Amino acid sequence: MNKRKGYVYVWPIGTRIIHWMMAISFTAAFITSFQENMLHNHVAFGFIFLIIIIYRIIWGFIGPRYATFNTFKLKPSQLKYYFVEKIQNRWRKIPAGHNPASSWFTVWALTVGTVIVVSGLLLYGVQEAKGPFRDLNSNYAEYMFILDAIHKYASYLFAVWVAIHITGVLIEQFWHKTGMVFAMVTGYKKTEGEDTEVKPLLNSFSYLMIFIAMGTYFFIISSNYNFLTLRKYGYIDYKEEYPLFYEKCGECHNIYPPYLLPKESWRRVMAGLDNHFGEEITDANISKSQQAVILKFLQENAAETNKREAAVKMMHSLDIRRPKAITKTPYWRETHKNIPRSVFKKKKIKDKSNCKACHKEFEHGNLDDMQIIYDF
Ligand code: HEC
Ligand code: HEC
Repeated sequence: MNKRKGYVYVWPIGTRIIHWMMAISFTAAFITSFQENMLHNHVAFGFIFLIIIIYRIIWGFIGPRYATFNTFKLKPSQLKYYFVEKIQNRWRKIPAGHNPASSWFTVWALTVGTVIVVSGLLLYGVQEAKGPFRDLNSNYAEYMFILDAIHKYASYLFAVWVAIHITGVLIEQFWHKTGMVFAMVTGYKKTEGEDTEVKPLLNSFSYLMIFIAMGTYFFIISSNYNFLTLRKYGYIDYKEEYPLFYEKCGECHNIYPPYLLPKESWRRVMAGLDNHFGEEITDANISKSQQAVILKFLQENAAETNKREAAVKMMHSLDIRRPKAITKTPYWRETHKNIPRSVFKKKKIKDKSNCKACHKEFEHGNLDDMQIIYDF
């Protein structure tokens, strides 16, 4: 006996929550990916997505009727028949569980979703040097480019398929009038078949997974220093550690971290102090021996020697060029191309070389995504 006449209870609360948490966490992660300083929110939503994927895969084996993978209709002939019938017969009967299109969609979403979360986790470690895989940054930094591409394009692919999925559901709703939209809200489908039943233990499992997903979200956004957000690179106290560099090169502007330019660029900067961006710096300001010490320090910590995202991307973008200014590099131009020129003229910024105006911890050699100020 079904609880509602003419309807089948197909999607129990667990399945519906999986569906909507996946939809919401993907959308939120997608949106927050466009602003660097939202990194933690992005990662936190990504973790919800990850946990829900794991949950859905387990659900596919132990879950209730209609949710398990063995009920999926994955034969190509079934998919073909599904579309032929869909076109020919507006008032066709729909199955209680997954139809061939939604079976494929679910398998596909779980596969691409897995690619997204795995590449994302690795990227977070390899590129940002953060999170559980932050140590991979030391040896695998060059992989940030390929991981970034995989992560990005897999997400776009997912977004495209979501759009197709939504279109399909709307066609069901308004053309075939099967009430598909409400099925994922109420759990009831207008069709024939037996109601699904979920055992209390299975329900507890659902709630546990949801609790873990939400808990992880808050865990990540609440702190910069837990094991999911910790970064490999801390602050550099130039004043304490490299006093000569701090004193001499910090006199007119904030010191530029040596990892932002390659060795040869630093050699050029130091060789041209008599005309340093229009300023004349003489031996009386910085003696020859002090210059040698500073140059040695700059070269020992130059971009080639560093695995931070900015250093690796800087080297990648420079190719054989060795400019004297950071702001003249293709990497700097690329990362700042969306900032209107007028912004750099504002009183509190004054100049594009005034990195500290927008990068909060610039003085401590930190260009971390989380520390970027967008409110110019
Ligand atoms: C007498 C003042 C003065 C001192 C001392 C000084 N600089 Fe500069 N530096 C400038 C000026 C002016 C600019 C032009 C950019 C600006 O407006 O801040 C500049 C720009 C730079 C830039 C390029 C920034 C960009 O736009 O990408 C680098 C790199 C740099 N300085 C390195 C150094 C180093 C290394 C030292 C220490 C050896 C040093 N500077 C000492 C005045 C100074
Ligand atoms: C007017 C504000 C502003 C100034 C000044 C500025 N930046 Fe930025 N910077 C930004 C913003 C905003 C972004 C992020 C752009 C984006 O959303 O992709 C950024 C991104 C970056 C990145 C890439 C970070 C990443 O993880 O992708 C680097 C490196 C960087 N800036 C270095 C510098 C340096 C070095 C200077 C000084 C020579 C500087 N910036 C001056 C605003 C500024």
